[in-house]
Amino acid sequence: MNDIQAIIKKMTLEEKAALCTGASAWSTTPVDRLDIPELIVSDGPHGVRRQADIHALAQKSLPATCFPTASSLASSWDTDLVYEMGQALAEEAIALKVDVLLGPGANMKRTPLCGRNFEYFSEDPYLAGQMAASLINGIQSKGVGTSLKHFAANNQEFERFAISAEVDERTLREIYLPAFETAVTQAKPWTVMCAYNKINGTYASEHYRLLTEILKDEWGYEGFVVSDWGAVHDRVASLEAGLDLEMPGPKQRRVNAVIEAVRDGQLDEAVLDESVRRILQVVFRAAQTPKGGTFNAAVHHTLAHKIAAEGMVLLKNNGLLPLQDPQHIAVIGRAAQKAHFQGGGSSHINATQVDVPFSELQKMAPNAELSFALGYPEGAEFEQCLIDDAVTTAKVADVALLFIALPSFKESEGYDRPDLDLTDQQIALIQAVTAVQPNTVVVLNNGAPVVVRDWIDGTAAVLEAWMMGQAGGGAIAEVLFGRVNPSGKLAETYPVKLSDTPAHLNFPGENGTVRYGEGLFIGYRYYDTKEVPTEFPFGHGLSYTTFAYSNPQLSATCFRDVDGLTVSVDVTNTGTMAGKEVIQVYVHDQVARLVRPYKELKGFAKVELQPGETKTVTIPLDFRAFAFFDPAHGQWVTENGAFDILIGASAEDIRCAVTATLTSTLRLPSVLHRESTIRAWLDDPSGKVAFEPMYQQMVGHLTRIFGGDDGDGSDTIGMDTAGFMLDMPLLSILHFQEDVLTQPADDIVDLLLAQVHGMRTQA
Ligand code: BGC
Repeated sequence: MNDIQAIIKKMTLEEKAALCTGASAWSTTPVDRLDIPELIVSDGPHGVRRQADIHALAQKSLPATCFPTASSLASSWDTDLVYEMGQALAEEAIALKVDVLLGPGANMKRTPLCGRNFEYFSEDPYLAGQMAASLINGIQSKGVGTSLKHFAANNQEFERFAISAEVDERTLREIYLPAFETAVTQAKPWTVMCAYNKINGTYASEHYRLLTEILKDEWGYEGFVVSDWGAVHDRVASLEAGLDLEMPGPKQRRVNAVIEAVRDGQLDEAVLDESVRRILQVVFRAAQTPKGGTFNAAVHHTLAHKIAAEGMVLLKNNGLLPLQDPQHIAVIGRAAQKAHFQGGGSSHINATQVDVPFSELQKMAPNAELSFALGYPEGAEFEQCLIDDAVTTAKVADVALLFIALPSFKESEGYDRPDLDLTDQQIALIQAVTAVQPNTVVVLNNGAPVVVRDWIDGTAAVLEAWMMGQAGGGAIAEVLFGRVNPSGKLAETYPVKLSDTPAHLNFPGENGTVRYGEGLFIGYRYYDTKEVPTEFPFGHGLSYTTFAYSNPQLSATCFRDVDGLTVSVDVTNTGTMAGKEVIQVYVHDQVARLVRPYKELKGFAKVELQPGETKTVTIPLDFRAFAFFDPAHGQWVTENGAFDILIGASAEDIRCAVTATLTSTLRLPSVLHRESTIRAWLDDPSGKVAFEPMYQQMVGHLTRIFGGDDGDGSDTIGMDTAGFMLDMPLLSILHFQEDVLTQPADDIVDLLLAQVHGMRTQA
């Protein structure tokens, strides 16, 4: 490795400033005299979008494999497979001379309306974190870098360049940051890309707390932070905040601004040097991987096929699937002939080849007669004749396979979805076809949930195939015909209707801000806790076989937070076909000082089982599985008490529950303060010991004052005195009695607080 400090010493101020701003749309500035090469980056995340012309922001890119997008990947719940995909992506990056791939995206699916959800993994930070870490590890295992994006709270496309996401500290820490934290700490991405938006009023690109204090200092991040393309507003402020590289370039004015700021003494050169150090580290590391050559497109196509099949989710099946040798199949829908396999925007890949679903079906059933009807137009117009055609085709067939793809005007990077519906024509088409053909299967191609209630009842089966990548067409055929037993499970909830969704009242924001009013309660955390019915819950997905769960075991029934816990369960394939099951472990805290979601995913495993086979699945749960972020302490906190460990096949299909008691090893200062209520004093273990004698006296005293029974069991003023006191600050109650107190009320409370403090320090 080059001696970076020595190189920095040799660099001029101009060279250093130039290194921190891109030289082109996709490359950094080389310094030939010091043998500092350029670094080439490309989108990302599910394929390599290498522009032949490094100065072109968006031209047709060089051919590369288009793998399934993140919604599909996350639905596979298969971290090994995602790792394998990462390796394949790296091989393509190497062949296409790319040093860093711009992905994955680890943003949360706060609302299904976000137009870019297809590029994100989940509504759950644990699952998203595991997926992101696996993909990064896979890519980087081959010496190609990644860019974990978009850091942070970039959860919508509406006004994405400037809107301020107003998120409280706890929600940030528990929902919007953990997937990034997991990926950073477990996979060490070479680069992290900051988001466009503001967080609580400050641009992500200028967010010192986020980029420096949390990412670099707290999580120990050693790579560099790159701006999203065009996310920098004030170059000097962004450098000071920890934004190392601005992209895209060239931008001589920005370079000049940095030079001048250093010369004026406005910017400490050490700050610039630190960014230079971080960038050089990655530049030299990337240079160690020789670039060029070719990649095996056929092998990668096969891998893309396998991943697509693993990610497909069988949402509904009345028994029609897997298809049993149908003689005449009506194949309906434009997407059967023109596969809809990726989303629009910066992730758009020029695929090496594309499987056409119709042809793949024909290959799968060579003896069947397949007839085709287009079903719906490309645009938003309504064409009844296409529906009439489809009905005629469907009527005379044994089964109808309806390929319904959400058009790009309804879903893409750059804009949010107006609603969760299919197009009017698609809904009418499904209704009309199912009215004449009970054996109708709907195959969906979309990047995020759609509302199904208008059309699902008449269908025999629904398969969510997602934006399935270039080989998805073949994967659909295999799942429909049972060559592959579906094993995907939803990484996001399918709501019944848009107004049920957690962020509905706080989306997309107004006057430049979007308030994350639902707080911690996104996805199943909301539906669960609020008891709102869902169409298909988080974690749901059917199989052609069945699984039984039994014999749940814990490594201990009492455990210390730092030791964690291991949970195991026996899972048996009770059907007649080999299949895979995703076992999900959720944690429910029975009592907590702060409000918590009813349960949270903290572990999962995917196992393959032959008919009749049983495997014991073991899942570890660590400190963080039980902790919450307590803003009063500014840290992750565990509390003594009982936790239910819920083992399920989905968030709404819990098969076993076991309970364990946690002992916290934390010695935290008391949260009691001058304004604390009687309730808070009594709830706090040390507070209770210190305050209890005084409390008894107070209750006695106040009962005497308000004494007497007015006949209905309550005191004369019609209330329960002790109950009334509970939510009053101790100090306020003492103020009422100031004249009978031997000391000022403030002194009494301060004395008690000192006593509590003493007890905590001794403990
Ligand atoms: C997107 C990023 C992408 C970048 C470069 C931006 O508009 O938000 O995800 O990596 O462009 O194409």
